[in-house]
This record gives sequence, C-alpha cells and structure tokens, in this order.
Amino acid sequence: MEPEGRSTMTMNLCLLLSLVLLLTPVSSETVDPALQDLVNRNSDFAARLYQVIASRTDDNVFLSPFTLTAGLMALLNATNGMTQDQLLQGLSLSGLDPQTLPDLFQTLRTVILPGGEILNLRQGVAVFPAQSFQVSPSYLDLVQMKFRGNAETVDYSTPQEAVDAINRWAQEKSGDQVQELVTNLDPQTQLLLAIVASYQTQFSPAFNLSLSQEERFYMDRYHIVMVTMMSRTDKYFLAYDRSVKAGVLKLPMTDGTAMLVVLPDEDVDVTAVEEEVTAEKIQAWIKQLKKTKLEVQVPRFLLERSYSLKDVLQTLDITQVFQDDADITNMGGAKGPQLTQVFHKSIVTVDERSDDITAGDEVNVFSSPPPRLTINRPFIFIIYQQNTGSLMFIGRVVDPTRK
Ligand SMILES: *[C@@H]1O[C@H](CO)[C@@H](O)[C@H](O)[C@H]1NC(C)=O
Ligand SMILES: *[C@@H]1O[C@H](CO)[C@@H](O)[C@H](O)[C@H]1NC(C)=O
Repeated sequence: MEPEGRSTMTMNLCLLLSLVLLLTPVSSETVDPALQDLVNRNSDFAARLYQVIASRTDDNVFLSPFTLTAGLMALLNATNGMTQDQLLQGLSLSGLDPQTLPDLFQTLRTVILPGGEILNLRQGVAVFPAQSFQVSPSYLDLVQMKFRGNAETVDYSTPQEAVDAINRWAQEKSGDQVQELVTNLDPQTQLLLAIVASYQTQFSPAFNLSLSQEERFYMDRYHIVMVTMMSRTDKYFLAYDRSVKAGVLKLPMTDGTAMLVVLPDEDVDVTAVEEEVTAEKIQAWIKQLKKTKLEVQVPRFLLERSYSLKDVLQTLDITQVFQDDADITNMGGAKGPQLTQVFHKSIVTVDERSDDITAGDEVNVFSSPPPRLTINRPFIFIIYQQNTGSLMFIGRVVDPTRK
C-alpha cells in the first residue's frame, strides 16, 4: 500500500506544479527568446521613430508604435529584393527571416492582447492600393489573419470618394474616435498605408476624482496653463536617472500595461532627455524602479495626433519603397505600386476613469505626509505591456490643454 500512496502523492505534486505553471502569469523571463528578440527590435524602431518625430516639433507628440509596426510588417510581406532588405533594416529587423515574421508577430499579438484585443484599445491597419493594382487572395488572407488588418483597392481617381472610404474605415476601426484620417488625396496615389489607434487609460490604483483640482502647469519659463490635476497617495514605483536628470514614475493600468512618466528636472529641457531615449534606456528605467510611498499629481489630457510618415521613414533610411523602382509585387500586375504615403493617427485619453475596484494601499492619515510628485511641466510618457515589455505608445506632453 505504501508505494502506491507515494506514487499518488508524486502525481499530485506533478499536477500541482503544472497547475502552478498554468496559473503563473507570463513574466519577461518566461517569454520565448524569439518573441523577446522581436519585442526588443520593435522597441528600438519605436525609439528611433519617436526621436525623429520629436526633434521636428515643439508641440505635443503621440505615436502608437505597436500598431505602426503591425502595418509596416504587413507591407513588408508584399515587398521583395532590395526594397524588402531596406525595410527590414529600417524596422530593426535585419537578420530575421521575413517569411517567419507574420507568424512571430501573430504570436506576440496573442501574448499582448489575450482574447484578441484589450478593451480600451481600438486599432486598425490597412493597405490601400489604387484600382489599377489588385490584392492577391493569399496576401489579403495574411493581412487579415496575422495582422488583423485590411487590404483593398481604392479608386483614387475620384479623390473625395477615396477620402470618404478611408475615413469611414478609420472611424470603424477606432470605435468612432478617429473621425478624419485623411483630408485630401492625390488622384495619382498608388498605394497608401493607414494606421489608426485609440486608447483610454484605466489606472490601477485609480485616481480619486474628488481629489482632482485645477493647478498650474509650467509649459516653459514664460507660459503657464491651468490644468486638472488628478491625485492619489499610494505606493508607487519610482526611479531617478542621474545621467539625464529625470524622474521616472510608473502608473500601472488594469489591462496589464503601465505608463512610465518621465519628468525632467526643472532646469532640464524635455528635448535633452528625448535625445537619450533608446530601447535600452527605457528597459534600464523599468529595471531601476523602486517602491515608495508618494502623493502623485498627474494632469488629465487628451491627445489626438496625425502624422504623414513618408519623410520620417525616409530619414530612417526606408526610401526605396517610396520610389519608382519599388519592388512591391504582391499586388498583381507585372510592376507593382510604389508606396505613396503612410498616414498615422492616434488618440489617447488620460483621466480618472477606471473600473479598478481595489482600494489600493491604506494610507495612514496620522503618519507624516509622503513626498509629493507633481507632473506640472513638460514630460515624456511611455505605455508598455508589462509581461513582454512591448512598447505600445510613446508621447510627449508640452501643453495638456491642447490636443
Ligand atoms: C509573407 O508571409 C508568408 C507567411 O509567413 C510567407 O510564406 C511569405 O514568404 C512572405 N512573403 C514575403 C515576400 O516575405
Ligand atoms: C476620495 O477622496 C475623498 C476626499 O478626501 C475621500 O472621502 C474618499 O474616501 C476617497 N475615495 C477613495 C476611493 O479613496
């Protein structure tokens, strides 16, 4: 009887272990190395793209690198030869086999968005060739299956109808958040890539609406705007980067993502920090975070930003896909189209809304009040998926009262 008992016990342990393994959330250590490699490469592209865009404007900035990468990888699959090599390199994907990339991306998407989508993210990517080209059924399948995208021809010879069709697509994909992606189109357009995203933050722990109040936000030495500051006292993860002189605050969200708020010291310009934002830097910030009790004040904001990315991508050495000799052969005909433009629009709403019901950490009113961190001057924010470190959004807020 005894050996039998032991073997039952062994079996139970086995079962227990596999249960524990099943229940343990994926952490960055357990992510497949090939996926982790793709995440790192995507972050590298995202940081380089952000630097180019941020260096060209003093205004607010907002980008959706994850959705952008999906769109550009869908396009990559329609390219060949030198055009593909150059695109691979520009996207920080050189050395990887382009044939395996769609599957790898699909796997990453299912890890990041289990069950298909996260509720508060709406996104779409689309490849829109002119009617003189065609979308092969196998390419259409791939764009739909691997990138959850659309691929269909558009009649650019009637520009207003083309504008309406593309804007209707953008409205549908963004849950009516993005109303207008394009305003006018060239009748000579051969191929457009369209990428939209809309995101609503849901902080966990949530900000307490009854503590929100009007406060000053110092855009620069001479310009002050009044903003609604959300507030909460809790235990937060915080880091300070001496080399760039900026604090980094982590604000977790209910969907498994977190926002990093990067706040330069008062005497440091936000653009000086931006020049140092690389994928490695972001990773280092996340590693250095330490738990500490804080009163945190963060402005409410809503950003809606549109970019035509042709120039920016060309700055990142993605040029051939836009040229007459572009090798885009997956769209029928002896000679495929050349890419005319990449339109990207994304929206983020940051406010007290949250379905987080946990109370957060108890804060003893009798103990001395914790230090206060007020985000009241221009800052960078990065929204990443915590399990994989995937960079979902990146932006800069100079004026929280402007879209
Ligand atoms: C596109 O992706 C499919 C599926 O992964 C692959 O078989 C095909 O070779 C890819 N095409 C190009 C041109 O990369
Ligand atoms: C929010 O703040 C108010 C005012 O200080 C307080 O009475 C209330 O308990 C707080 N609510 C939560 C959920 O912390």
